[in-house]
Amino acid sequence: MSTLTQYETLEPDEDRLVAEMIEAMHHQQEQDFPPGATGRAAHAKHTGLVKIAFAVEPSLPDHLRIGVFAEPRTYEGWLRFSSGNGKPQSDGVKDLRGAAIKLHDVPGDRIPESDEPTTQDFILLNTPAIPLGTVKLFHGVITLGQAKFAAKMLPTHPHVVAGLAKAVITPTSPADIPYWSNTASLLGPDLVVKYVLLPTSAYTSPKREKHDDYYLSDHLQEHLSQTEATFDFMVQVRTDPDTMPVEDIAVRWDEEKAPLVKVATVTIAQQDFRTAERNRLAEELTFSIAHALKDHRPIGAVARARMHIYGGMAAWRQQRDQRTKTI
Ligand code: HEM
Repeated sequence: MSTLTQYETLEPDEDRLVAEMIEAMHHQQEQDFPPGATGRAAHAKHTGLVKIAFAVEPSLPDHLRIGVFAEPRTYEGWLRFSSGNGKPQSDGVKDLRGAAIKLHDVPGDRIPESDEPTTQDFILLNTPAIPLGTVKLFHGVITLGQAKFAAKMLPTHPHVVAGLAKAVITPTSPADIPYWSNTASLLGPDLVVKYVLLPTSAYTSPKREKHDDYYLSDHLQEHLSQTEATFDFMVQVRTDPDTMPVEDIAVRWDEEKAPLVKVATVTIAQQDFRTAERNRLAEELTFSIAHALKDHRPIGAVARARMHIYGGMAAWRQQRDQRTKTI
């Protein structure tokens, strides 16, 4: 596992918990997917893989001109919208919704955990602070399954069960909602930050009474057939280590004490993403917070677990399906 920075502490039994989660997820994948078509153990269903332009703000203050934000340039990349369940299900079922960004041609020194040479990924979720704040809690839900975990937690930790129930949503479109990084990262040597993606499109999708199985992709495609979609990419710099912890991601960092600052604009130009090639790429591209420059090192126990897990799980899928890595 990663070496700890000065901002981190080890969670008890971290390595064992991670190993057991990996084993449980592989076991589930073997049941859910035939060899040759192995889906992700989490966020298996994509609701759209879209090409993006990531334009860094021209007039950033000096202390934020770090890593991918150093120069006012535009990166090309991908954004994979997804639903959280480990097995693809109808878009009509309430779920966590993900947004995984991959930027290409990013120069600079990389963290040793990265298995891609020139990408920078940012992975975000539709909730600011998932109630599963520690590796131990993630381990509980992954090894027990959602129903048993909820039954076990309800008597002693009802807020965790209630928080998870609140975090699952059926939005009008993946392009209409905000996303948060949940886990923290360094920004250069001294800043501890989280990221937020805020929707800014002029167009928003209609609200429907009935949600069809692919309504999220339908709405996103309808949006992108008419006009572009846009988001503001925001950074939140931690201002108080006591009330804005790194090791408990269930705690939302107060946005009044640590305001969001816009660092880039994400533009999804008009495009037709419902093609066989895009569907193939949505399965084969791998996103990980470990695809990072040293200036963007992810930190905290859940982030360390994710850096270890995502790359290994993606490699396991490739091996099981007898294919090589796609970047
Ligand atoms: C220890 C806790 C966690 C575990 C064990 C876990 C596990 C996983 C796994 C196995 C994948 C699929 C990797 C692959 O095969 O390519 C995944 C994807 C994903 N995870 Fe997590 N996760 C954790 C925490 C989080 C958190 C805190 C977030 C919040 C941002 C998150 C958001 C996502 C998203 C959006 C994806 C989809 C990425 C894509 O589109 O490829 N996960 N997670």
